Amino acid sequence: MDESNRFVTGLDVGTENVRAVIATVSKNGEVAIVGYNEGKSSGMRKGIPANLTGPAEAIDRMLGDAERMGGYDVRSAYVSINGSTVISTHTEGMIAVGSVEHEIDGVDLDRVEDVAVSGRIPANRDVLDVIPLEYALDGQGGIKDPLGMAGARLEIRANVISALTPNCENLKRATMTADVKAERLVPSVVAAAKAVLTERQKENGVAVIDMGGATTSVAVYEEGDLQYIGVVPAGSNNITNDLAIVLAIEPELAEEIKTRFVTGNFHSDKSIAIKVGKNNEHAFERKEVEEVVEARLEEIFSEIRKKLKAAKYDQRLPEGIILTGGGAKMRDIEIFAKKALEASVKIGIPAGAGGVSESVKKPEFAAAVGLALMAAESSEYTSTLSKPSKKPKKSSSAKPFGFIKKIFSKF
Ligand SMILES: Nc1ncnc2c1ncn2[C@@H]1O[C@H](COP(=O)(O)OP(=O)(O)OP(=O)(O)O)[C@@H](O)[C@H]1O
Ligand SMILES: [Mg+2]
Repeated sequence: MDESNRFVTGLDVGTENVRAVIATVSKNGEVAIVGYNEGKSSGMRKGIPANLTGPAEAIDRMLGDAERMGGYDVRSAYVSINGSTVISTHTEGMIAVGSVEHEIDGVDLDRVEDVAVSGRIPANRDVLDVIPLEYALDGQGGIKDPLGMAGARLEIRANVISALTPNCENLKRATMTADVKAERLVPSVVAAAKAVLTERQKENGVAVIDMGGATTSVAVYEEGDLQYIGVVPAGSNNITNDLAIVLAIEPELAEEIKTRFVTGNFHSDKSIAIKVGKNNEHAFERKEVEEVVEARLEEIFSEIRKKLKAAKYDQRLPEGIILTGGGAKMRDIEIFAKKALEASVKIGIPAGAGGVSESVKKPEFAAAVGLALMAAESSEYTSTLSKPSKKPKKSSSAKPFGFIKKIFSKF
């Protein structure tokens, strides 16, 4: 491997799971995944850290295998942020740039963005991103890239993505507690979109719905830009909990029912009984189970549809809906989603990276892959991977990061 390659890391800190993707970026921008891992999360509530040690330990445990196998520590990463306080706000701004012959430069663009943000976003929010949707020069709108154009008055229409400052701060502290610096915070659904959408879909109009354990988020793209983002504080775990309560069973059995037997096609053959437990000692009528699941899915998807309506995108997305997250693994969930949203629905599989990417071609890895892809696009960023620290890691989780060692042993 060429030593001039950069390393980038995407770290998706979910309520249910933490996932990491490490990739190399070649000089010509090609991204190759060289490591990935996933593990159970802890200390997260509805996408937000409820304490620092829980998520830190989960990240530490998940990344720990790399160190145990003689690899290198991940010291910084692009990190996902989630929770219903992540919102988008459409704002406008205007600046005078001088004479009519003035050529618009980067400083002007920064200045007009500042005007669009300052005073529009409450002080207790961190701005995660400012997406310029349209510029106008001397009153003439519809300009996508005004750099180098001439004009005296520059206006911007922008989509500002923000989250409550304490949530951002605590997430950064949680990753820092695990010795990982959060280089940038990206809403998890935006990260997922980065990995599953094509430029064409983003241009024509498409939404990504990321269904996790405790949250379901939606991001809408049109004309190539992120137009809207919203988070519903309910996810696939709510289905498990509902089943546990209604059927009076332990959450583990409810999870087994959900992942093994439930499908999103609620009009399939209902006559087959559902049997779970070590000796199939628990039997349930499919109809009873499906009623519970369908009611919760209907609630979640109607909340998402309300958000799409409010953003004026309901039934107005030519490229339809792409589902990601662990919740998208429910068999035939597309069938349910299609009916609930009256739109075409597909499952989103992460793409855009080579290497061992086959292993992460699953909807639940979309956010982690997307974070790595975003990090790869930022030429100033390289994920610091240092030699193993003396600090012992407590872990031994699922898949090993042994390939990191292989990469570094070549140096
Ligand atoms: N085969 C399956 N069928 C149905 N649900 C599944 C399946 N596999 C996983 N899930 C569900 O996916 C959820 C976890 O998804 P994911 O890992 O994307 O969540 P998360 O990112 O940790 O949570 P969040 O994004 O809400 O913070 C769990 O509720 C789990 O039960
Ligand atoms: Mg998630």
